[in-house]
Amino acid sequence: MDQYGVIGNPIAQSKSPWIHQQFAQQTHQALTYQAILTDLDSFAQTVDAFRKQGGKGLNVTIPFKQEAWNYCTERTANAELSGAVNTLIFKDGQVLGANTDGIGLVRDLRNNHEIQLEGQSILLLGAGGAVRGVLPALCEAKPASILIANRTLDKAQHLAQLFTSLGKVDACAYTALAGKQFDLIINGTSASLQDQLPPLPDGILRVNGACYDMMYRLAPTAFVEWGHDQKANISVDGFGMLVEQAAESFYCWRGVRPDTGAVISEFLMERMEP
Ligand code: ATR
Repeated sequence: MDQYGVIGNPIAQSKSPWIHQQFAQQTHQALTYQAILTDLDSFAQTVDAFRKQGGKGLNVTIPFKQEAWNYCTERTANAELSGAVNTLIFKDGQVLGANTDGIGLVRDLRNNHEIQLEGQSILLLGAGGAVRGVLPALCEAKPASILIANRTLDKAQHLAQLFTSLGKVDACAYTALAGKQFDLIINGTSASLQDQLPPLPDGILRVNGACYDMMYRLAPTAFVEWGHDQKANISVDGFGMLVEQAAESFYCWRGVRPDTGAVISEFLMERMEP
């Protein structure tokens, strides 16, 4: 059977093996997909060994997405721009790198939550690898503007500069947000992991606006709750993005598109069970 997997550190919490097993069953593809833990200094060695055993592809997660970018012999245009790779495709001794996070985010917003992007004003919180990874696909969705807010302003400015040729992308500090308004606020910080919230002023979400946390966990994140407090039309976490980016990786490897809606519904049912 063709072998795939997800490599990271830590990795035990990853939902990717479960998601890819659902996809494989649904599309009748014979494959294995395992979670692979590797030491922080052994990424390349572990991937080399996986390829030697005949492995066909890997998903890459924290903290190896930049290292995966370096490991590739070739990259898609989006991966090139995002400076990070979450999907490796091994073929004929070559390593093609893709970044499916941005496509996953855009598909989840549009298809699963019916959130429009074209012509909208977007506030993007954070300026780390997660935000850079989704910026190419977000720019492609043709919003009116993207404002990147970050605690460390120069990181946001650097990102805005990198993407300014793809659309109206600007940067600011959190203190400069008061008095501005946005149709969509996307949290790309890692604050939710520590149950924290970036310092957001009240009133910056437009009426009928939407909030989206790229993180997910069983209970609502602090940012999803903030969205409800701000009377967002919709305030959701990023489980759908996880499934959609996985589906795009699956398509890169197998040429088959799984039904993501069925997998998201199944997960939501499990999440609701006590
Ligand atoms: P990732 O790869 O997940 O993006 P990262 O590159 O370490 O991780 O970036 C984390 C991002 O979350 C950064 O933008 C960070 O802000 P700084 O650049 O100022 O450090 C942001 N972040 C983390 N915790 C935060 C918090 N409690 N409030 C606001 N921003 C936070």
